[in-house]
Amino acid sequence: MSKVASHSFASLTCAIDRAAKNDMPTTIVVFGASGDLAKKKTFPALFHLFEQNLLPKRTRIIGYARTHMTVEDFHKRATSHFNPQADKSSIDKFLGICEYVSGKYDVDEDFQRLRSEIDRLEQESNIDTSCERIHVYYMALPPSVFVDVATQIKNNVYDESCTNRVVIEKPFGHDLESSRQLSKDIGGLFEESEVFRIDHYLGKEMVKNIMTLRFANVFYEAVWDRHYISNIQITFKEPFGTEGRGGYFDQFGIIRDVMQNHLLQVLSIVAMNQPKSLSAEDIRDSKTEVLKRILPIQLEDTMLGQYVGTSDGGKPGYKDDDTVPKDSITPTFAQCVMHVDNDRWRGVPWVIKAGKALDEAKMLIRIQFKDMPNSLFPNLARNELVIQVSPKESVYIKTIVKEPGLSTNLAMSELDLTYKTRYHDIKIPDAYATLILDVLNGDHSNFVRSDELDEAWRIFTPLLHQIENDRVKPLPYKYGSSGPEGVYQFVEDRVGYKRT
Ligand code: NDP
Ligand code: BG6
Repeated sequence: MSKVASHSFASLTCAIDRAAKNDMPTTIVVFGASGDLAKKKTFPALFHLFEQNLLPKRTRIIGYARTHMTVEDFHKRATSHFNPQADKSSIDKFLGICEYVSGKYDVDEDFQRLRSEIDRLEQESNIDTSCERIHVYYMALPPSVFVDVATQIKNNVYDESCTNRVVIEKPFGHDLESSRQLSKDIGGLFEESEVFRIDHYLGKEMVKNIMTLRFANVFYEAVWDRHYISNIQITFKEPFGTEGRGGYFDQFGIIRDVMQNHLLQVLSIVAMNQPKSLSAEDIRDSKTEVLKRILPIQLEDTMLGQYVGTSDGGKPGYKDDDTVPKDSITPTFAQCVMHVDNDRWRGVPWVIKAGKALDEAKMLIRIQFKDMPNSLFPNLARNELVIQVSPKESVYIKTIVKEPGLSTNLAMSELDLTYKTRYHDIKIPDAYATLILDVLNGDHSNFVRSDELDEAWRIFTPLLHQIENDRVKPLPYKYGSSGPEGVYQFVEDRVGYKRT
């Protein structure tokens, strides 16, 4: 193994060591334990950590929701999305630490019962309650009940002798005003240091890798500015529509669902200056500083789309969903040109694009460099650095080489680091597993701070309000296509992207 590789493994081992050393008795309460996120992401992630011995040894997990279920039914639901190859005895041991409490989200007595259950489990595990303990409250809940549940936790469950951590899922509000209200409500109950706002993109391997690429390799950072970079595109494409989630999606649309959070978070890491240190607050300071320099997005810099069904009727249109109003103007596709107004980036356009029911599944960051000045070779294509976040984790640099053999022609090739090929022995963990591990370690680096959130809404709110007030109609595009007509032309015309 090369020196560089062994160094990176050392850092990974360090992170895991840190987790293993966190041996404080821990109780994790998952609110909304009967729901979709809990079964698809939260419990599989908790089991993954349990299997890898990364949960503190004395951990107990309590599922909480209104649904009346026996603990056996809850276990069935919680394990329904586990890997079918998972070891049966590990699952049984995991379920041995998982209990269920049924209760409403706004009833004092129900939360007092929850508190009694936490106390009972701590007694059962012989935990000395005068010692340090961690209580994690994970809200896998619709945002309409976040504040009720947070209030109940504070009034009836919160134990001041513990380290308390509250995990909140997006959406954090609907616009700048509602997000500020939510931050105020949550901030009135918990310290910012107790709050972990999940944006699961921050837990993805290749997103976590951006800082390492930029700040651990001299040659990337040397060209990371307006002198060398022509334009940057951050793209999210999903090959399926909102099937089954139309009702939820129609209140949000693609800009709130994916762009204001996931894509903007990625943009802020690509654009930020080097943080003062690797501490969570220094990293978040750097991200916030760059977000503050992003100008609000203009409608004329935006293309909106909404998918329609295929002509053969094989795939439905967005409005064919019964839960979506027939006159909905909610965009299921958007691409926007953005500008970061600071010395590093002034003049470099950024395009963020996201769409549902498109032709493929892909999330990537494409950094296109400027034309080679004074080149010996005529008509050179541009270099690009591409970081593919999913589905195939990879980093590649589009590089011009001499066509191999007797030819003297030039060819575009790639310096290609595809993770599956290079790191075939390593299973890349799900984003939720890494983020829950961070919560257990009290590491906020990959969570959204309230001032970051405020900036994110400042950038998008005027555009969202204009779309809604003026009822701006999205362009139609066929399910399974690459987006509305002119989708690529828009990028070529508006930001000068040149196809390589
Ligand atoms: P669900 O709609 O499945 O809701 C979770 C649970 O909350 C339900 O099982 C239900 O439990 C309770 N609940 C549902 N609606 C209401 C309501 N109107 N009032 C009170 N309680 C209600 O949500 P998800 O699990 O899909 O999502 C949870 C959170 O995670 C949301 O904030 C979502 O935006 C976010 N999220 C979800 C993702 C996913 O893949 N599902 C991905 C990323 C984020 P009971 O009736 O038993 O109390
Ligand atoms: C969620 C959005 O936050 O992210 C979904 O609400 C989207 O609409 C999902 O499908 C994408 O996440 P991933 O990890 O599958 O890329």
